[in-house]
Amino acid sequence: MLASVGSTNEYVGSAAVEGAPAGLVVVAEAQTAGRGRQDRTWLSPPRAGLTFSVLLRPGSGGHAPVPHGRWGWLPLLGGVALARAVERLGEVDVRLKWPNDLLVGGGLTKAAGVLGEVRGQAVVLGVGLNVTTTRAELEAISATSLRVEGAACTDRATLLCAVLRELASLYEQWCDAGGDAEASGLRAAYQDLCATLRRQVRVSLPAGGLLTGEAVEIDADGRLVVRPDVGPIDAAVSSTGAPDVAVAAGDVVHVR
Ligand code: BTN
Repeated sequence: MLASVGSTNEYVGSAAVEGAPAGLVVVAEAQTAGRGRQDRTWLSPPRAGLTFSVLLRPGSGGHAPVPHGRWGWLPLLGGVALARAVERLGEVDVRLKWPNDLLVGGGLTKAAGVLGEVRGQAVVLGVGLNVTTTRAELEAISATSLRVEGAACTDRATLLCAVLRELASLYEQWCDAGGDAEASGLRAAYQDLCATLRRQVRVSLPAGGLLTGEAVEIDADGRLVVRPDVGPIDAAVSSTGAPDVAVAAGDVVHVR
């Protein structure tokens, strides 16, 4: 546990490069340079949230090798672990917005996010969860917290243990299946929680450009498959003849 650090992801990433073992968990009371997805910052007042990172080395420690192409599932796996723990302890409705924003409560507002970063042969999974953050503190980032949503549990140590337990169990199953999300049940678990599927979405693509259409499924690599409203940007013709686009990274807005 660190009182303050730039970013727990950065800290664990550096430790990974220096050979730290899988399973290292670093928790911080405060981050001065918290990172979010797509080069955004992650803001959380000291002591109001849960900010931690976990070091994973897929395929090590006696597990079957996990091909690099399947590592993209790890941030989604982190989202499922987070959702399960928050739902069980917090007794609140939870869903995931692809890839791994945790939406909570009746308004399905973001309360947490997961940042997965590859560092050499390791993956760093960072989790930021707003726990006791107040409405006033959240206004600037249009998000919510467990306290604002009236969650039954806002004890950060209890929540941390629950998320780590869910993460360990899902990760074991996924590694045992060689990273196969179908065989390990991860794809089904993710799709059950995903609020993005069957919605009209607008996706901002990392290279620039927008894709609008219906989110139809999560594919075997964890990508969001969108059936475009208009001509495809990078079409793969599906078995039904409809041109679908598989998106590996991007920012999703639920249009309706
Ligand atoms: C997102 O929704 O954009 C992902 C946010 C991830 C934030 C967490 S807080 C702990 C870890 N350290 C960081 O710098 N970022 C992640």
